[in-house]
Amino acid sequence: MFEKSMWIKSRRDFGDVCPVFRFDFEFEQEVVNAVLNITAMGVYEAELNGKRVGNFIMAPGWTAYDKRHQYQSYDITSMLKEKNTIAVTVGKGWYRGRICEDRITNGWGGVSAVIIEIDIRFADGTETVIVSDDNWKTAQSPIRFSEIYDGEVYDASFADDEWEPAGFFWFRKDLLIPQEGEYVTEHEVIMPNSLIITPKGERVIDFGQNITGYVEIEADAKLGEKIEYSHAEVLDADGNFYTENLRTAKARIEYICRDGKQKYKPHFTFMGFRYIRIDSAPENMTVDNFKAIVVHSEMKRTGYFKCSNTKINKLFSNIIWGQRDNFFDIPMDCPQRDERLGWTGDAQIFIKTATYNFDVKRFFQKWLHDLKAEQTNDGSVPSVVPNIFGNGALGRPCWSDAAVICPWQIYLSYGDIRILEEQIDSMTAWVEYMRRDSSGFLWLNDKHYGDWLGLDNTDGSYKGVSDYILISCAFFAYSTGLLIKALKALGRPTAEYEELYINIVKAFNQRFTEYKTQTECALALCFDIAEDKRSVADKLAELIKKNGNNLTTGFVGTPYLLPALSENGYTELAYSLFLKEEYPSWLFSVNMGATTVWEHWDGRMANGEFWSAAMNSFNHYAYGAVGSWMYETVAGIRIDEEKPGFENVILKPVPDKRLDWAEASVITKYGTVRSKWYYDKNDNIHYEFDVPNTATIIIDGNEKQVNKGRYCF
Ligand code: BGC
Repeated sequence: MFEKSMWIKSRRDFGDVCPVFRFDFEFEQEVVNAVLNITAMGVYEAELNGKRVGNFIMAPGWTAYDKRHQYQSYDITSMLKEKNTIAVTVGKGWYRGRICEDRITNGWGGVSAVIIEIDIRFADGTETVIVSDDNWKTAQSPIRFSEIYDGEVYDASFADDEWEPAGFFWFRKDLLIPQEGEYVTEHEVIMPNSLIITPKGERVIDFGQNITGYVEIEADAKLGEKIEYSHAEVLDADGNFYTENLRTAKARIEYICRDGKQKYKPHFTFMGFRYIRIDSAPENMTVDNFKAIVVHSEMKRTGYFKCSNTKINKLFSNIIWGQRDNFFDIPMDCPQRDERLGWTGDAQIFIKTATYNFDVKRFFQKWLHDLKAEQTNDGSVPSVVPNIFGNGALGRPCWSDAAVICPWQIYLSYGDIRILEEQIDSMTAWVEYMRRDSSGFLWLNDKHYGDWLGLDNTDGSYKGVSDYILISCAFFAYSTGLLIKALKALGRPTAEYEELYINIVKAFNQRFTEYKTQTECALALCFDIAEDKRSVADKLAELIKKNGNNLTTGFVGTPYLLPALSENGYTELAYSLFLKEEYPSWLFSVNMGATTVWEHWDGRMANGEFWSAAMNSFNHYAYGAVGSWMYETVAGIRIDEEKPGFENVILKPVPDKRLDWAEASVITKYGTVRSKWYYDKNDNIHYEFDVPNTATIIIDGNEKQVNKGRYCF
């Protein structure tokens, strides 16, 4: 592919203006097949004869461009005519735009460019190829400015620029790979919920849901009139438009009208928002001229949960939105501020829940290939993938362990051994990295995010007080244990790692004889490394009770907190935390009006004030990891590690009287598995299961193996 094609760019420096590249071509014969193969340094939109090609927003997506650069292939047969014009506009995107505050601009190259090959087959069997080269023309487009964080300036009154020959340049093509991930596409349209005039007198539209995407406008305007609007997730305590938590991201659109009726939506930017403030608009525009469009990676919905508690149902909806809003070609931490990075920790924390909610196999496959590509020669794994921090943040416990935890989970959820075949070297390299960096089987690494955003530190620190070394050693054990399972699944020898594992666990128990925090206990229990699980579980319960029945866990401990309790004799306490409505809890944010999952337990406090402006996203999926406990414990739908991908499903619901009923279902490749329980008038419990293949049903410790069918108890 692209053998004869050249990378082309504009010869003139267009500054912030997005260039457009154009080529006219015609033929007389009948075309039976035509495919456009294309990618860009930047992000592109292609139009053929005035119509958009494909539906991939922000194509070609974000990969470790210096190692892997995706191209897309679109069938354009039906779009071709006798005389054709192809026009491709290129924005900065991740390739050239500013990323993570201002740490990086032009991260992979300082030029907007495209490379194209159109393969055409005619009815008479002959073929022709059209390639990008200096026969193409280039000009400025009406997109005067576009940056992911900052928004777009579009001048619809911009008269056509002069077309001039494009310049070609040499750049390697061996990094180009066919599309691996899911396309990022537009989803539903959300109409305004209400128009608010804030105390400051701002005109604000509320779309009622915090989403990722952009706003489409429709106007009947005069030449030169301006439509400007800014985006925000929340209003402040006084009800005014609040953008401080976006940090330096401007998230603003400026549209300059031409004469007459017109429509516009942004091309190369996206926002995380629920509200927009109309900064200027022609007088005849009404709220109905603004529509929000939800944009994210294609993922088929597979998981559903509901129960008798409407607030829990809202929490579940927020978890689903948290995933939709942040699965944007890569698993992002958040969609709104000047960050939006592929944080490895966040991804591994949430992945189990993600795989129940949606089919994310392909999505994670592509990202894990990038993770592998970004791994250093000595096996270390960056904190973000694609890695924009260079050597800055390598080898962080809990974050870098994504290298092992994510492929293992994708294998368990979908039962496809290929992910392990592809990732096993990367998984092994990460464990080997920890082994080399350890001493006496303890990974004494204190380069750390700690229990990120844990609540047990009094000094206002971002990091909880859990022992860094304990976290490092616990993940060293956990990842080694998962590596053993992966090697076994692949039929490879494991003796060496089994010995390593035994030694790590031994060293762990010698060193850590006391647990001080909820997170420390939760890790030791869920990773199954505590020698005396009973006493650790008691300690965990005691710590929670001592803290007024409140959780203190941050990113590291939270996914394990409820399972640690419910798997070790403290189901009632787990439910108490789950159903708690006051701060700190999952339902606190629901009570505060959240429509997504917050980064902080107290992103907004009971008095309406914010925790901080610096690190306060209202759309971070990490704490949504409680979703897997809802599927696995409340409804009891579990994966059988021996028969992954739901070949056999374990059904082990754990009801609690504070809920009248609960139900979940997951669409698997064998069909839909469903589990429901309810209490009748006499307080008797009933269970209903739909089994798509085979299942092990476990109720009150009694086990029963069943085949496909419906079962009621
Ligand atoms: C991100 C997190 C991430 C963390 C690492 C934050 O800025 O938003 O979600 O995991 O940094 O400490």
